[in-house]
Amino acid sequence: MSGKKVTKRTLLGMKQKQEPIAMITAYDYPSARLAEEAGADILLVGDSLGMVVLGYDSTIPVTLDDMLHHTKAVTRGAKKAMVIADLPFATAHLPEGEVLKSAARLMQEGLAYGVKMEGGIEIVDKVNHLTVAGIPVMGHLGLTPQSVNQLGGYVIQGKDLPAARRLLDAAQRLEEAGAFAIVLECVPEELAELVTKKVGIPVIGIGAGRHCDGQVLVYHDLLAMAGDFRPSFVKVYQDAGEVIRKGIAAYVQEVKERSFPAENHVTHLKEELIHELYGSSEGETDQ
Ligand code: KIV
Repeated sequence: MSGKKVTKRTLLGMKQKQEPIAMITAYDYPSARLAEEAGADILLVGDSLGMVVLGYDSTIPVTLDDMLHHTKAVTRGAKKAMVIADLPFATAHLPEGEVLKSAARLMQEGLAYGVKMEGGIEIVDKVNHLTVAGIPVMGHLGLTPQSVNQLGGYVIQGKDLPAARRLLDAAQRLEEAGAFAIVLECVPEELAELVTKKVGIPVIGIGAGRHCDGQVLVYHDLLAMAGDFRPSFVKVYQDAGEVIRKGIAAYVQEVKERSFPAENHVTHLKEELIHELYGSSEGETDQ
């Protein structure tokens, strides 16, 4: 990533030059800084934070206030990378004015570059409403985790012909409505490749194979910090969970055996002060 801020024009240029786009979720100041230092182009404040940071078993309970809190922290840590914040559960289906208010708060208070919205042709009018108002919108098709209950689980989407055609159509309609990019989650590689070819905007895949314009993974997944939950499309690049666990275990052990803090971690009083202080308490006895 160069020194310039990443914008939708940057991403479009990358698609045209076939330069892969690297996106990763970030939920706070340190994860944003580390991801940016590592060269990520886009930081997604995903509502996956509900699962990997807040401990819910889906993204459904995540609120706009949760999203704002985390988006503010991420934007403080990101200087160049584009920061996109998720609109939480069901927001895209509220009346237009409500959707606009929520998206505007993520930009005005959270300082996000734009928002991501889950959904297909049923939300195209809302996408258009936001983009006309100056809000960059990233679409999200395929497996849309906010609809996990309705979908019947975290299952691959677009596997039969009607579903694949619907998804392709939705991608084209989102582009027409003004979306600047689309996340495509858990669809067969061939369908993702076709969508990527058929739309002019960048397509960022997650569990969507090798031919998208970019890839996104959840921070805690690629660093093995999400417990036992490990979808098959995730690659673990470092076991940070193990590093952290070992570090904390060593600390706990040293505290228990009184080897921490050591001489180099403490400060001392001047000799004469020690005498005065200890002297002044001479004769005082505990009852
Ligand atoms: O919430 C999230 O982290 C996401 C990614 C999985 C794309 O939507």
